[in-house]
Amino acid sequence: MKIYFVKDYEELSQKAFEIIESVILDKEYPVISLNTGGTPRQLFKNFVKAIQNDLDITRTTLLTLDEYVGPSDAVYSVQRYFKENLTDQIEDKFYHIDLIHGDANNQDEEIKRYQKILQKYPRDIQLLGLGTNGHIGANEPGTPFNSTMFVSKHTKETIESTKKEYKLSDEETPNEMFTLGFQEILQAKNILLLVSGRHKAKAVKTFLEDNISENCPVSYLRNYDNVTVIIDEDAASLLDLEK
Ligand code: PGA
Repeated sequence: MKIYFVKDYEELSQKAFEIIESVILDKEYPVISLNTGGTPRQLFKNFVKAIQNDLDITRTTLLTLDEYVGPSDAVYSVQRYFKENLTDQIEDKFYHIDLIHGDANNQDEEIKRYQKILQKYPRDIQLLGLGTNGHIGANEPGTPFNSTMFVSKHTKETIESTKKEYKLSDEETPNEMFTLGFQEILQAKNILLLVSGRHKAKAVKTFLEDNISENCPVSYLRNYDNVTVIIDEDAASLLDLEK
């Protein structure tokens, strides 16, 4: 696992963008799998700006990490996030884009469908964020490290974060999510984890300084060489490690 410590959110977003851009420039048919939420907002902006300038995405496939169970046009849905923060803002078309259907009637079938997509389009990069409780995707604390794509029930902390991020009432806040499991996450060639802000500092400390344990899902990534983590000063503020 490689860690970059950066100053702030701006620098983190720029560095993440450069890593994704280099994959797009290097590969003939790049496959990029993004996540959503607060952390990658600026990265999406940088991506849009580059495409509006001259970054060619016409051979790039775009996939995702997870999706809330609920209507595809709900304010919190990953589909809507991609539309508002990316595809609506560019004229160019991705080679292929395939997101998870959070409104699928048959969830088992939807999982099988998306697992086939993941096989068909091997990911060059999988973007991840970190939950305040250490989750990656919706692999919440206690999820076995051999998990494969499933519908996860959110913990109280995750429900609170979603509620805050999308300014929802208790009733509106979703509490279940389709998520890639650890196994699918780790099948990507490269994994890029972004962590910003003081509210993540405790999770970062447990991630890097405690034992690898299912109680801290992200700690599993420490076993892998293909993982890059970018952490800003606020998120790193509780670490004892030498930087
Ligand atoms: P956030 O979410 O980027 O909105 O903080 C991260 C996550 O829960 O994966």
